[in-house]
Amino acid sequence: MCGIFGYVGRRVDAGSLAIDGLKSLEYRGYDSWGVACKTGNTLTIQKETGKISAVDPADFGTACSIAIGHTRWATHGGVTKENAHPHLNETSTIAVVHNGIVENYEELKEDLKRKGHTFRSDTDSEILPHLIEEELKTRDANTEKSESVSGDFTAAVRRACLRLSGRYAFLALHTESQTLVAAREGSPLIIGVDTDGYFIASDIPAFLAHTRTVQYLDDGEMIATDGKTILFLDIRTGHEVRKREIEISWSVKQTQKGEYRHFMLKEIMDQKDSIARAINQDEEEIRTIAQAIKHAQGTFLVGCGTAGKACVAAEYFFSVLAGHHVNYAPASEFKLFHHFLKPESLLIVVTQSGETADVLEAMKIAKAKGSKVLSIVNVQGSTVARESDYTLLINAGPERAVASTKALTGQMAVLLLIAYALADKLQEGKLLLLETSEMINDMLNPRYVEHLEALADTIKRHENLYIIGKSWNYPMALESAIKIQEVSYIHAEGFAGGELKHGPIALIEKGTPCIVLTGKDEVTADILSNARELSARGAFIIGVSPERKEVFDEWIKVPDAGAAQAIVNIIPIQILAYFLAVKRGKDPDMPRNLAKSVTVK
Ligand code: AGP
Ligand code: GLU
Repeated sequence: MCGIFGYVGRRVDAGSLAIDGLKSLEYRGYDSWGVACKTGNTLTIQKETGKISAVDPADFGTACSIAIGHTRWATHGGVTKENAHPHLNETSTIAVVHNGIVENYEELKEDLKRKGHTFRSDTDSEILPHLIEEELKTRDANTEKSESVSGDFTAAVRRACLRLSGRYAFLALHTESQTLVAAREGSPLIIGVDTDGYFIASDIPAFLAHTRTVQYLDDGEMIATDGKTILFLDIRTGHEVRKREIEISWSVKQTQKGEYRHFMLKEIMDQKDSIARAINQDEEEIRTIAQAIKHAQGTFLVGCGTAGKACVAAEYFFSVLAGHHVNYAPASEFKLFHHFLKPESLLIVVTQSGETADVLEAMKIAKAKGSKVLSIVNVQGSTVARESDYTLLINAGPERAVASTKALTGQMAVLLLIAYALADKLQEGKLLLLETSEMINDMLNPRYVEHLEALADTIKRHENLYIIGKSWNYPMALESAIKIQEVSYIHAEGFAGGELKHGPIALIEKGTPCIVLTGKDEVTADILSNARELSARGAFIIGVSPERKEVFDEWIKVPDAGAAQAIVNIIPIQILAYFLAVKRGKDPDMPRNLAKSVTVK
């Protein structure tokens, strides 16, 4: 996870650029931060525990034109100043910021210790500057000609990479070189090309205020840049790689909070129009994809967390609307199902970031079997988007809050559209989703939001909360639980309504809040009967429904959206989760222990 940032160029405020850049990457990790600035032959390091949001870039130190920085999500070693990045070699001549895990770090560390190196931190990352130092000592007589940007330092970093196993992205600086070197294997790194220099970061918002021209680094590649030129190399062969420049469409405004106190609420409210953007797809492409699903020998859906719940909803969409069977597995569990994959199979990958490690691993497994991959992604140019056979972008715009909201409804809208296309009813599906989008626009008015805020006040002191649903509202019950857990830390659990009597109903006490998600369809009577079972045991029933029912103690009105009901029903729960967090004094944008983009397995 973690965010990394680097700048080299003509500007002399590289330190402040790093602070600003890291602030926009803070969603990737926020337990500690650090920056290294190079002036002349000196590296100045500043690092602290806590969030970087509190640091003012204007107060930030030395004028310099090369800097690297890091905002951490610890995997190895506690949250301490020593463990914060950048890490240095003993003589402080090499600084490294690292995202990911060096899986063979123990073995490398032992080897380096035998060679006399001592270490200051408990991280896996600290071996990197030491390893590069060792490689610098063994200068390669055959240093590749193409490494003209910095010669020895680049070559040493490349040789160090050849000794690493695991998923990583890192940036390295050396006091004796004007070159910033970066390498990638598994974790994202994007280059921002500016007239005055180069930016290198884990995600585009880190440099969006300066440039929209980007180049993507792929796995197994590295770069070396002195701010004037940039060289892309294949790590294994040392050969130069050619790269295209791509113009990206996101605007700075989209990445800012605007009038909202938190990104989470802004992104929930964005759903007034993000669903319409999601379904604005090329109809021919949707039909082609529906045909690919129809003819595939096995269609498998994978995703993680919230994106995984969109996949479960899709199982219902495909079954109910098109009579077509698909299989879902959480991406982290998919490995165990590889026996069923054939070259004629199709893997559908659902992901907001397009960088989730478990999802990339599932793709690798499918590709190894020769299966085709369709991805439904938000981030344009992300690894998943670039490595899929077909990609559908949901166009939700940047999602910064850790809790995924508008990406989920965009993903479900696209999956629903495909299900309609599979049933040869694409236009009907499109119309339904356009109407649903308009109904959501009307629903998200200030009075509606205030009602949910008041409800959050009523239930905020409860430590347990349950949600039930049936059919496509069942995955929304699971999703409601994630949303409430991750931002408010209330213990929330979602169940299929019919499962209550098989165990969970034992948890119900007088006053326990239970949310019942329902629509107006053939399963409504069943779920209302489950609600009555809860009510009979003293539960406080909060109904999310197009109609008021006598079993509800509290009614959250939602429009009747037919097959798109799941998309509508989750939105008030997102708002409720947001207010539960705020009223319990938590920061909904940066919940404890989590990071937005989960790039470790
Ligand atoms: C959602 O609120 C989560 N924080 C999380 O479950 C997320 O959906 C999951 O990590 C998958 O991320 P992705 O969509 O970027 O792959
Ligand atoms: N493994 C490194 C650490 O624990 C990097 C983690 C990250 O990606 O933030 O410091």
